[in-house]
Amino acid sequence: MIRNWYLVGIAVGFTAFLSVSSLPYRDNFSDLPGPYCENIGCCDERQDSCSVPIMGTLCYCDDFCNYTRVDDCCPDYWSHCKGILPPPTTTTIATTTLNNDPQQLTSCTFQERTIYLGNKVQDNCNECICEAEGKLLCDTNVCMIDPNITSVINRNPELFGWTASNYTEFWGRTLDDGITFRLGTLPPQQFVMSMNPVRRIYDPNALPREFDCDAVWPGYISGIQDQKWCGSSWAISTAAVASDRYAIVSKGKEAVHLSAQNLISCDDKREQSCSGGHLDRAWSFIRTYGLVDEDCFPYVGRNENCFIKRQGNLLQSRCKPPLYGNRKARYGVGPAYRLGNESDIMYEITRSGPVQATMKVYQDFFTYNGGIYKHSDLTLSRRQGYHSVRIVGWGEEISYNGEQKYWKVANSWGRNWGEDGYFRIARGTNECEIETFVIASWPRVDRKIQLANEIPNSE
Ligand SMILES: *[C@@H]1O[C@H](CO)[C@@H](O)[C@H](O)[C@H]1NC(C)=O
Ligand SMILES: *[C@@H]1O[C@H](CO)[C@@H](O)[C@H](O)[C@H]1NC(C)=O
Ligand SMILES: *[C@@H]1O[C@H](CO)[C@@H](O)[C@H](O)[C@H]1NC(C)=O
Ligand SMILES: *[C@@H]1O[C@H](CO)[C@@H](O)[C@H](O)[C@H]1NC(C)=O
Ligand SMILES: *[C@@H]1O[C@H](CO)[C@@H](O)[C@H](O)[C@H]1NC(C)=O
Repeated sequence: MIRNWYLVGIAVGFTAFLSVSSLPYRDNFSDLPGPYCENIGCCDERQDSCSVPIMGTLCYCDDFCNYTRVDDCCPDYWSHCKGILPPPTTTTIATTTLNNDPQQLTSCTFQERTIYLGNKVQDNCNECICEAEGKLLCDTNVCMIDPNITSVINRNPELFGWTASNYTEFWGRTLDDGITFRLGTLPPQQFVMSMNPVRRIYDPNALPREFDCDAVWPGYISGIQDQKWCGSSWAISTAAVASDRYAIVSKGKEAVHLSAQNLISCDDKREQSCSGGHLDRAWSFIRTYGLVDEDCFPYVGRNENCFIKRQGNLLQSRCKPPLYGNRKARYGVGPAYRLGNESDIMYEITRSGPVQATMKVYQDFFTYNGGIYKHSDLTLSRRQGYHSVRIVGWGEEISYNGEQKYWKVANSWGRNWGEDGYFRIARGTNECEIETFVIASWPRVDRKIQLANEIPNSE
């Protein structure tokens, strides 16, 4: 029953963390009654595996779900495991400043400011109201940026291997907002997970120790995008990987920026636009219908109307088709394939360019500023979501705790975030599941270009 984050808390001398462990907090799952726990049955002790997917995250059926500051119990945990109704779902007192001067019982103090009775004040992502007797009543949301986590990480870089930062655009937002609107990849379905990785014949020892697509194919690789408050990483990473591969295979003749908005707006039957999408379906949409370029259908970060017909004449929409394409042609790809392990992923990148990966994102990732990321386990919330990103290279670095292998990965939160929009993450250990579901696809480049360029066949 000893938690990792307790150990870290003690190791770094940050005991204040231990005292904030059990503010009651209700997750908003009440409109999804279940059955969840009823189906999987376990109820005792801490059992991290005892979880069920819910709204792009997981809920739990173990006794620990009620101990953390954020309650992530399944909706039917209380009735099924405890035989009782859930505790009331109201906000609770988070901060109390009792002012003993009777003259001043009509106000509260917040960060050395006076808040008068009935007035509201914003504390990060929580709204507080000054109630009678100088009590400040606050919401108890977990925020995207938790200054406590940021400062623990920054005071112990040798322990964590990376540094954290406060981002203006994330400050004041709830973790739920972050998970819903800054990620946007629905967990791969079982049949996709069981897709057999492709086999490649190569000598793993001949792989370079460092590799960066930008250096190998300068000018061909997509830059960093900002998905804004739209859960569209499924579309952005897919369009970017396809674009990079078009440029590489055509040796720059088709250095396109394919439209993620095309996917968000038009792949509507089976995806959920800004509320997330499945990668396998995104790839099969491009395979079936193709994409237009960014100039034709620029990114707006919301569910805009699909103004281009899937197979209509492109020139009517003032969009240019691919080189040598007819008026109806779109940028297409072949079937998506999965890569099985670290060295297979590396080999694939050296041969064909960036690949797409899906990772689990926890609260601390939003604050990443630089270094080699590993999930810190500091967060008291187990809330998490899936995010898809583009692996563009790798390397090794002597860091605080010896030699550390990493992936270099393009994120989609703008250039201000992380290392100029990129992040590095531990390689070879399946950190945050980033090596579990890596996929790529070959672009359908016109034969004339292909023949002119002698495309190597890596099968
Ligand atoms: C949270 O749950 C309450 C009660 O079921 C509901 O009224 C409210 O709309 C929910 N809020 C969100 C953001 O889903
Ligand atoms: C769940 O948490 C609440 C509030 O902290 C506490 O009153 C209650 O005893 C806990 N229940 C269990 C079963 O641990
Ligand atoms: C941060 O730590 C302080 C104590 O140092 C505590 O009062 C506060 O509630 C913590 N904030 C969060 C968001 O956990
Ligand atoms: C984080 O940034 C926001 C906006 O720039 C600022 O208002 C807030 O005080 C900062 N928080 C901390 C803990 O520095
Ligand atoms: C990865 O898988 C390939 C087979 O596809 C195998 O030859 C290779 O040894 C594996 N590498 C590692 C590091 O497991």
